Amino acid sequence: MERRRILVTCAKGIAPFLKEEMAGLGFPVMAETVAGIATEGTINDTMRLNLYLRTAHRVLFLIREFRAVNAEELYDALSEVAWEEHIAEDGYVCITSSVDNPSIKDSRYANVRCKDAIVDRIRERRGRRPDSGPSKDRVVVNLYWKGDSCSVYFDTSGETLSVRGYRKIPMTAPMQETLAAAVVMASGWRGNGNFINPMCGSGTLAIEAGLIGLNRAAGILRSNFGFMHLKGFDRSLWNDIRADARAGAKKSFNGRIVATDIRRSAVEAASKNAATAGLEHLIEFGVCDYSETVIPDGGGLVVLNPEYGERMGKVRELEGVYKGIGDYFKQKCLGYTGYVFTGNPELAKKIGLRAKRKIPFYNGAIECKLLEYDLYEGSRGNRNTEMP
Ligand SMILES: C[S@@+](CC[C@H](N)C(=O)[O-])C[C@H]1O[C@@H](n2cnc3c(N)ncnc32)[C@H](O)[C@@H]1O
Repeated sequence: MERRRILVTCAKGIAPFLKEEMAGLGFPVMAETVAGIATEGTINDTMRLNLYLRTAHRVLFLIREFRAVNAEELYDALSEVAWEEHIAEDGYVCITSSVDNPSIKDSRYANVRCKDAIVDRIRERRGRRPDSGPSKDRVVVNLYWKGDSCSVYFDTSGETLSVRGYRKIPMTAPMQETLAAAVVMASGWRGNGNFINPMCGSGTLAIEAGLIGLNRAAGILRSNFGFMHLKGFDRSLWNDIRADARAGAKKSFNGRIVATDIRRSAVEAASKNAATAGLEHLIEFGVCDYSETVIPDGGGLVVLNPEYGERMGKVRELEGVYKGIGDYFKQKCLGYTGYVFTGNPELAKKIGLRAKRKIPFYNGAIECKLLEYDLYEGSRGNRNTEMP
């Protein structure tokens, strides 16, 4: 089976965690950018990547690289690809793209020419052409065209991998699943010690922690991936890969996961999401102010994702919340490591404790930090002496 370049994309800032995951799965890193890692392998290797990777958005499998200065050259080069070997004549194809070429004013035109090349070729060879459109639930072809350099890939994920299938109720400002997984990875939690998540919202951090603690494959709940719609899809190999993943998952972990929120509706949503993820028996939910969240003996992590407000009034309102988090850490969380994920450095200063580490992330376009605090006995006296 032919080995090709596999480009795994991720959100900006997450590549170090993705790299760690890929190395763990035995995939060599051939190149790294802020938003992706290149490796190589067969189309069948993309199945494992899609099933296991927690921090990736998409797994792209290279079809062809070529030069094209305009849409006609693009069409000609794409017409030479044996699409009929990969896409059924009664199938469906969606084209996605990233285009930066001076002859193309609207990237939708590049998509249309790409689609034309595929369906014209298949109609010529098979007498029938596949349908095309925006749905990413069947074959997805991704075009990356910068200057005169084109790379065309099968998007073997289809729908982004951050859609795991458990978050039926998102609530307000939910954290993307892939980002939450990276935050848990950055905290070092692997199912060891307690994971306390006040302000849990829809429960994403607690659920990703549960999946990591059980070593459960991130994509195990998904029933649809792009690679399944390519001709030659090896269903029995896929079943074996999924069975291996199930066999490698644990039934429990060594510690407690506690998730609370002040809003009852958020906790209800989070517990439904956890039930969909099959984790309802492993996460202890509660409705309370973050400062009332029980901190069990034995140590572990307290991870908070407070709002960070975009309007000034809101920011002022939140100052008290951030100051309160500092008090909560000092008064109730001694013996733990505290984490605060925020996109507002001024609010972070109100915590009033010295951050041991500031791990950079992005939430969409907003630069964020995961602040780490060592909450040992001596941290009681640190208030306002050092800023994050
Ligand atoms: C940014 S959201 C957290 C989103 C969450 N990480 C997710 O993925 O859905 C902040 C959460 O803090 C909760 N919250 C705000 N003030 C709180 C307080 N004083 N005590 C507990 N929870 C609070 C809100 O109800 C909201 O659900």
